[in-house]
Amino acid sequence: MEIAELTEEDLDSYLELFSEDESAKQTMERAGFKLEKEAFKNRLSSFPTWIKVFVLRSDRVEGAVCIAGAENLNLPDSALIVDLRIRKESRKRGYGSMLLETALEYARKKGVKRVVTIVSEMNVAGIKLFHKFGFKPYSILQDYYVLGENAVAMEKVF
Ligand SMILES: CC(C)(COP(=O)(O)OP(=O)(O)OC[C@H]1O[C@@H](n2cnc3c(N)ncnc32)[C@H](O)[C@@H]1OP(=O)(O)O)[C@@H](O)C(=O)NCCC(=O)NCCS
Repeated sequence: MEIAELTEEDLDSYLELFSEDESAKQTMERAGFKLEKEAFKNRLSSFPTWIKVFVLRSDRVEGAVCIAGAENLNLPDSALIVDLRIRKESRKRGYGSMLLETALEYARKKGVKRVVTIVSEMNVAGIKLFHKFGFKPYSILQDYYVLGENAVAMEKVF
């Protein structure tokens, strides 16, 4: 198992991660990503600010984290964890933590002062994971998801 930047060879396996989860598609669509290979590649290469996808892979992608600059969201010196996910059958083995650590380290080295993320308030695992890494809730986003659940905006200040 290794963590590396997403390559073109990873793309099919990476995009498969989202087929497991309807709300994941919604998260990515909010960031302007269609979960189809060519459209995804084009969006990555024309993203309005810096963006990185790190994957955890063996013979396939087991999980990934996507982090981007947040200047375009009026959050200077900040980065947004757009998405973090691990295949269902590979959860609870520390992989989510490894990927989050990689993304935070990358942001720190880039001089980012604050990292934010948005998680469904129903997502106990996600909230606990970010909390464990020092993220604190700072805002509730009412009716953020299609099914009407609220989201929690969380931040970590370096
Ligand atoms: C959230 C997610 C990324 C966690 O990945 P993971 O590899 O299972 O996480 P780890 O094994 O590194 O666990 C780290 C911490 O997360 C929390 N956690 C993970 N799964 C949990 C669960 N099912 N219930 C409660 N807490 C959980 C715990 O605090 C855990 O620390 P601990 O083991 O010391 O208790 C994974 O559940 C996932 O892909 N969920 C769907 C996508 C998602 O919700 N992403 C987050 C919002 S973008």
